[in-house]
Amino acid sequence: MFPTEPNTICCLFLLCSIFLTSNAAIDRHSLVTRYNPTRNASNPTTPMQVGNGNFAFGADVTSLQTFLPFATMSSWGWKNDSLPPNRTIEDVYNYKGESWYNHGRLVQYDFGGDPEIEQWLTANPNRVNLGIVGLVFLDAQTGLIQNVLESDLSDVHQTLDLWTGIMSSEFTYEDTAINVTTTSAQDISAISVTVSSPLLFPNTSNAFTRLGIFLDFPWGDGSQKFSAPFVGNFSSALFNNHTTTLLDHSEYQAQIKHRMVDAIFYTAVESSTKFDITRDSPVAHRYTILPHSDTNSLSLVISYNSTLPSSLPSSASLVQSSIATWESYWMDGGFIDLITGSTDSRADELQRRIILSRYLMGVNEAGEDPPQEVMYSS
Ligand SMILES: *[C@@H]1O[C@H](CO)[C@@H](O)[C@H](O)[C@H]1NC(C)=O
Ligand SMILES: *[C@@H]1O[C@H](CO)[C@@H](O)[C@H](O)[C@H]1NC(C)=O
Ligand SMILES: *[C@@H]1O[C@H](CO)[C@@H](O)[C@H](O)[C@H]1NC(C)=O
Ligand SMILES: *[C@@H]1O[C@H](CO)[C@@H](O)[C@H](O)[C@H]1NC(C)=O
Ligand SMILES: *[C@@H]1O[C@H](CO)[C@@H](O)[C@H](O)[C@H]1NC(C)=O
Ligand SMILES: *[C@@H]1O[C@H](CO)[C@@H](O)[C@H](O)[C@H]1NC(C)=O
Ligand SMILES: *[C@@H]1O[C@H](CO)[C@@H](O)[C@H](O)[C@H]1NC(C)=O
Ligand SMILES: *[C@@H]1O[C@H](CO)[C@@H](O)[C@H](O)[C@H]1NC(C)=O
Repeated sequence: MFPTEPNTICCLFLLCSIFLTSNAAIDRHSLVTRYNPTRNASNPTTPMQVGNGNFAFGADVTSLQTFLPFATMSSWGWKNDSLPPNRTIEDVYNYKGESWYNHGRLVQYDFGGDPEIEQWLTANPNRVNLGIVGLVFLDAQTGLIQNVLESDLSDVHQTLDLWTGIMSSEFTYEDTAINVTTTSAQDISAISVTVSSPLLFPNTSNAFTRLGIFLDFPWGDGSQKFSAPFVGNFSSALFNNHTTTLLDHSEYQAQIKHRMVDAIFYTAVESSTKFDITRDSPVAHRYTILPHSDTNSLSLVISYNSTLPSSLPSSASLVQSSIATWESYWMDGGFIDLITGSTDSRADELQRRIILSRYLMGVNEAGEDPPQEVMYSS
């Protein structure tokens, strides 16, 4: 019915203006960024994360996986372990568990059959840690990789900007500043990493840079399901359980193929700065990337895929897509402001939990499929 009564119109007008003013009054940007997590040391069990619901990258205080091997995981990265010795895939398909009476009839359950096959079925397929990325520190005189600990860094500050999905760290190593920012792509499984530091600039007398990036690839099997927060095992004893190959590299890009039993994962790296990439040793799945130009800044896009991607976005466009996607994530849905005007001392903590939970949901649980288990959703 069309509202003709002055009272009705007035009432609607009032409702509308309440709705509009209260909607406009929520300053979502300030409410979200009020809870930007900050750290000055790595948390040993809880990574800072960037991601997009189908892909998540967990970081230590360097905004990379330099000191702690937090995982890089996806909704699509799964693999099967080898079958138990003397078993075939037919044994898997023919597996029959015990039958028990249930409501007066025999029901077959998926346990109590061949224990080897039962264990394989429990553990497979399993989700793969796609690889880790961290900083490499090199000696000024020899150019060799140094063993640097988190305790060797000082003035450490890390912030995760919940509004943009950009994680950044600033710290000092041997009296020299290092900045790192890490951002997740929103449409593909990739990160952009930018490192800025005078340590990147090659020494004029021996051309050595002091800083680079490593990529490392763990073996993981289904028996490690409960080893969170870390996924996979970097032990050299497991070197032969998987293979990595540096496929193709030019001055601006490189591709590594990682095979785990029958599953293949590709890591592609691209930069607008020339770089070298080398395998650390023939018996390690670890690679070092060093900038190959006179620069104080290195930006890389590192992508993970089950096929070789045809092209990668630039760092700048990847970061732009994160800013735009997170802004619409925060702006386009319902939003509750518990703080403004509240005198309840609990409002702030409840608001903080709502904001951080929504961020973690966007990173870990807003993908095409629900997460496998809440186990690794931080
Ligand atoms: C580091 O953070 C902790 C906890 O937030 C704080 O208590 C401590 O004072 C900070 N240390 C420095 C050096 O900023
Ligand atoms: C694992 O093996 C099963 C049984 O052969 C197969 O259906 C499935 O597609 C495999 N999954 C992966 C990720 O290889
Ligand atoms: C291999 O497995 C079959 C059943 O799948 C079994 O009959 C046979 O004894 C096994 N052989 C060995 C050497 O374990
Ligand atoms: C540059 O290399 C030279 C020769 O190895 C070394 O003596 C010097 O300390 C290096 N300079 C810096 C700033 O690391
Ligand atoms: C690191 O970032 C800060 C701003 O956040 C800037 O003042 C500083 O110059 C940067 N340092 C390097 C080495 O890029
Ligand atoms: C990694 O694998 C090695 C060699 O099999 C094993 O000794 C070690 O316990 C494993 N570590 C973890 C955390 O599973
Ligand atoms: C690694 O491979 C060896 C040889 O195939 C196998 O015996 C061992 O169980 C594997 N280890 C893990 C942890 O998968
Ligand atoms: C993998 O690469 C293909 C081709 O470039 C692309 O369409 C797809 O979105 C990528 N997948 C992920 C998960 O990044």
